[in-house]
Amino acid sequence: RTKRTAISAEPAQHKKSKDLHIVLEPYVKSDRTKEFLRDAILNNDFMKNLEMDQIMSIVDCMYPLDHPDGDLIIKEGDVGNRVYIMEEGLVEVSKHSKVLTTIGPGRVFGELAILYNCTRTASIKALSDCKLWAVNRQTFQAIMMRAGMQKQSDHFELIRNVKTFESLPEDILSKIIDSLAEVSYADGEHIVRQGAKGDTFYVVARGRAQVTQAKSKWDTPIYDRHLERGDSFGEDALQAEETRPFNVIADDPNGVTCLVLDRQCYREMIADELSRLKREESFKITRKITTYTSGEEERDL
Ligand code: CMP
Repeated sequence: RTKRTAISAEPAQHKKSKDLHIVLEPYVKSDRTKEFLRDAILNNDFMKNLEMDQIMSIVDCMYPLDHPDGDLIIKEGDVGNRVYIMEEGLVEVSKHSKVLTTIGPGRVFGELAILYNCTRTASIKALSDCKLWAVNRQTFQAIMMRAGMQKQSDHFELIRNVKTFESLPEDILSKIIDSLAEVSYADGEHIVRQGAKGDTFYVVARGRAQVTQAKSKWDTPIYDRHLERGDSFGEDALQAEETRPFNVIADDPNGVTCLVLDRQCYREMIADELSRLKREESFKITRKITTYTSGEEERDL
């Protein structure tokens, strides 16, 4: 056993993954176990912000793994191949041979190397027989990547129907999509406030928001309409600072999520495109004048 502690129990290598093409293999487990694993992930600072469907896919793919007392489950500096959740037992976390802490049931470990593509930041040794659940790196990353791509195509769907963007070529649209921020608002929260200055543009991605407007500073705002998925507002803010002409307030018990783009980002991205369009325009005008003055018949360019 003393000899074994020098060798990590993890598989020595991980293949460069073709993450998207791997087939996810769920491991059948009880609802109670699923809940236990989900809660463990939600209690982990580095994983709790994953989307719930990502978390549930990870839970579905976790499989049981036992390690006897004394096993070196993770060796500091190794390439990591699994994320673990402890069901029963106790492990010791150490770095540069110094014990940092112990980890017991209901806790995730081994997530850092997989999430951040670094080597194992610490060693983990079993202090008792351990019943663990594990998910492989390839599976974990495939789940992450698929969710990322789904989100991108969802954002593309929303953005390409916005009038301001409809004539932009796809490469610029995709740059815009990369720089969109997703912002969530609680029920009743103001997304924009009438009279406030703003330089951001919004598309509603999830939930319903209501628009209200007051005739003057002293009047009570009156209901105007509801905005839903795909509706946008604040287009003018992409051209110059806008004084918001109305209030937009989240009006959904589950809250509202908007895709948000600010003017500076937008102008930087479309600057090249704008100057190309300007060049094309002035080229067309020059051609028109040359054609006119030479008496040729005008043709479409
Ligand atoms: P990872 O780096 O993949 O492998 C070693 C794991 O030890 C690491 O992920 C964390 O899960 C865990 N770990 C590292 N440092 C600490 C710490 N200071 N306290 C608790 N757990 C830690």
